[in-house]
Amino acid sequence: MHRFDDLSLPIVGAPMAGGVSTPSLTAAVSNAGGFGFYGGAYLAPDALRSAVREIAGLTDAPFGVNLFVPERVDVDADEFAAYRDRLAPLAARLGVELPATVPFTDDAFDAKVDVLVDERPAVASFTFGLPSGAVIDRLRAADIAVSATVTSVDEARAAADLGVDSLCAQGVSAGGHRAMFAIADSDPEIDTLDLVRSVIAASGLPTVGAGGVAGPDDVRAILDTGAVAAQVGTLLLRTPEAGTRTAHRGALADPQFTTTVTTRAYSGRLARGLVNDFIRANSDHAPSYYPQVNTLTGGIRKAASDDPQVINLWAGAGFRAARAVPAGDVVRDLAGF
Ligand SMILES: Cc1cc2nc3c(=O)[nH]c(=O)nc-3n(C[C@H](O)[C@H](O)[C@H](O)COP(=O)(O)O)c2cc1C
Repeated sequence: MHRFDDLSLPIVGAPMAGGVSTPSLTAAVSNAGGFGFYGGAYLAPDALRSAVREIAGLTDAPFGVNLFVPERVDVDADEFAAYRDRLAPLAARLGVELPATVPFTDDAFDAKVDVLVDERPAVASFTFGLPSGAVIDRLRAADIAVSATVTSVDEARAAADLGVDSLCAQGVSAGGHRAMFAIADSDPEIDTLDLVRSVIAASGLPTVGAGGVAGPDDVRAILDTGAVAAQVGTLLLRTPEAGTRTAHRGALADPQFTTTVTTRAYSGRLARGLVNDFIRANSDHAPSYYPQVNTLTGGIRKAASDDPQVINLWAGAGFRAARAVPAGDVVRDLAGF
């Protein structure tokens, strides 16, 4: 079972669902001697299957696939409508019709687990909670190692009790969605190094440290805590292999964007991104309904895909160090301490 402890370079390329992960990005990280993940959330099972096959055609090295664990929460219709009304003027300006109600979707979770069992990436990782023991057993029987993303020691203990093979400890400075097990959970806001240290002490599992990596010194510090590798997302966003939108790439290097914050404004789940007008206007009003809020804002984000003041600019605290160079260079530079 793959546990990230025999990589040529101790760098894991984060899964980045929603268009940033591409087969060529995942393969480039693995081909450089790191370990590339592919973000399988939001994709239909057939699209995931094609992507996994494409990655396997681009690298002989091991790689992994990440899925979001679904959680069904009751949506208060009035609260949802209030947020919808708040977004209505922006939607109208963009010519977008907002849906009156949004049905729950589990993102075809079971069908995507079936795809993984068939296609056998080296690792299946899970975010937003833990898969069932039955899912873990099926993956293991297919020779797929199971990893869980955690943001606290309690989550690490729960994952260890379930028998996962490794953990990804995601510190507060990480870009993109926070991995808390429940949608409504507040953010434990634990610094990456503190989290990795305590997660290893509590679980004894091989642990990858993630969050805020801006250069080789951060990688060294994560490894010094006992982690098997450091995971990077934000530093890969400007690489040519990533599917990052042009406006997002630009914002990462634009001096008008100075800081990141966590917000529920785009998806209903907490996620870290560059502060822009949309976040300033809506963060205090967004209800904790995922994926319903994500679907609600989807039309706006699509219609405004060129406008960095509207779209989600996911980024970790180390965003200023993201460079427009090939992903293999990012991986090698990070490991060159
Ligand atoms: C654009 C973007 C998309 C992300 N998508 C996912 C995802 O699909 N699954 C996941 O487990 N983590 C996702 N993450 C979080 C990463 O796995 C990782 O925790 C984070 O990027 C590490 O912090 P850093 O961005 O400061 O390097 C995403 C991060 C970013 C920046």
